Amino acid sequence: MRKKLVAGNWKMFKNLDESLAFAQAFREGALPCVLVPPFPFLSAMAAELHGTPVALGAQNCHWEIQGAYTGEVSPEMLLSAGATYVLVGHSERRMYFGETDEMLAKKVNAALRAGLTPIFCVGEPLILRQEERHFDLVAEQLRNGLFHLSDTEFGRVVIAYEPVWAIGTGVTASPEQAQEMHAFIRQQIEKQYGTEISDDTTILYGGSVKPDNAAELFAQPDVDGGLVGGASLKPEDFRLIVQAISEA
Ligand code: PGA
Repeated sequence: MRKKLVAGNWKMFKNLDESLAFAQAFREGALPCVLVPPFPFLSAMAAELHGTPVALGAQNCHWEIQGAYTGEVSPEMLLSAGATYVLVGHSERRMYFGETDEMLAKKVNAALRAGLTPIFCVGEPLILRQEERHFDLVAEQLRNGLFHLSDTEFGRVVIAYEPVWAIGTGVTASPEQAQEMHAFIRQQIEKQYGTEISDDTTILYGGSVKPDNAAELFAQPDVDGGLVGGASLKPEDFRLIVQAISEA
């Protein structure tokens, strides 16, 4: 069964007190969803959200279990701190930190090894959409980052389509643009893994999802939820978006 999901990516926002204040305001009556705070607050957030249906994710991971990799965090460490999800290949990681498809494939493997659910991000910059090469790029990102996985492994992955031009810009992809790419992604999965697996894959949309556009995006047949940045920083906004997926 395809799972519906909303995840809130806090990026490099909020300190410890602000993170805990969010958790305290949000936990009462919270519906199932995922929060993705900065690394240092995972375990405190896990304690604060214990007993609620709110799961935690990390924004990145290294691919080794442990070792001399100053500044890096392994998926096993994230799991021990309370994370059950991890973002892999967010466009900001690809753009600003030089993460290549090859590194991302290793991170996906490592996340699965540790028992985390990778949320694998794909999406095109504006220039490629203008040149009508956005489908090619997304197909390549899927191929290089994910399609080496076995059927069972692939079944544990969540995909997020995040057009780079829609991230943090206030410009959301139209529901039609989102649906078109999501259907394309599902088609690529079908070619590689067959209909049953492609039908079961959760594909999130990300890029300026807000309380007032969430319902329309989530109503698209191939949009199974959202990866939310800016609008996940306020408990009342994020609650509305999580509500929208529970009603979709
Ligand atoms: P945004 O970010 O909702 O602020 O556009 C989405 C993301 O980068 O995951």
